[in-house]
Amino acid sequence: MDMRVSLVPGVLELKNPVLSAAGTFGSGLEYRPYGDLASLGGIITNGITLHPRAGSPMPRITATPSGLLSSVGVQNDGVEHFVDRVLPLLPWGEVPIIPNISASHVDDFGELAARLAAEEGVAALEVNLSCRNANRSGQRFCQNPVTAARAVSAVKRAAGGKPVIAKLSPQTMDIVEVARAVEASGADAISCIGKVEGLMVDVKERRAKLGNITGGMSGPAMKPLALHCVWQIAQVVNIPIIGVGGVCSALDVLEFILVGAHAVGVGSASFSDPETIFRIARELPALCAEYGIDDLNAFRGSMGR
Ligand SMILES: Cc1cc2nc3c(=O)[nH]c(=O)nc-3n(C[C@H](O)[C@H](O)[C@H](O)COP(=O)(O)O)c2cc1C
Repeated sequence: MDMRVSLVPGVLELKNPVLSAAGTFGSGLEYRPYGDLASLGGIITNGITLHPRAGSPMPRITATPSGLLSSVGVQNDGVEHFVDRVLPLLPWGEVPIIPNISASHVDDFGELAARLAAEEGVAALEVNLSCRNANRSGQRFCQNPVTAARAVSAVKRAAGGKPVIAKLSPQTMDIVEVARAVEASGADAISCIGKVEGLMVDVKERRAKLGNITGGMSGPAMKPLALHCVWQIAQVVNIPIIGVGGVCSALDVLEFILVGAHAVGVGSASFSDPETIFRIARELPALCAEYGIDDLNAFRGSMGR
């Protein structure tokens, strides 16, 4: 069965709807021992910033009853390192490489976008709108439709025609309004959702389990929240949605497509078993056949009441 998905017709075409979710698949290179990167629909990389970042204090990750709580703090070696040392090693001719970009100023988003979009190996950019905005006392860009739209506009202006994907979080008054705002400001697609802030504590030690104290929740507990966000947003925007949150199986992929997603991101599941994402991409065609789905485009958003 034809698994191809068109995110931006003629510009961002995926061979299947299974992408890695930002920050959970390294740059992609780290997962080469576990499967063929080119068998995936796309690779959304770890968060990239203009300058190297040391990240959050340890420990950075802890288990929750149904997933993970993490605070990595966008540890990375900066955009120049990515462009010079990482991108050339990725199979960008065979699978779309989509850097996830993080910044705390709108201008930095623009600068990052310009630097990355100039590279032939970059297929599109994903804007991490969960970043804190230094000009709004640390409020996250995605918390407010106006700041989310400003960040996306800056990236779009600098991206030289490369598609821009806005990554939304439910940590806002109204994610649907934020979705409308990023669409109006030029986003070519939306991915949702990012992590949701949480806290895990250790009573014996009387301290937080993460070095940063708080972190972001991810994993299976997120799936109902993510499905709800995708479903709501799909009804009001005309751009494609990449559903992210708790995807662990090919059936989860179909659930997201049923509520209106074009594609999905596999996140925390890659930590528990690094082969998961490859298995999901491999198993999807047979699962579609089992459920009598012969056209993903017709199946998308077909949930009845
Ligand atoms: C350790 C870790 C690091 C992450 N880093 C980023 C990041 O840099 N940028 C981003 O947009 N999302 C980041 N995310 C969020 C994921 O891309 C995804 O939206 C979230 O984990 C929900 O998906 P999941 O339940 O499948 O993990 C990170 C998630 C985890 C667990």
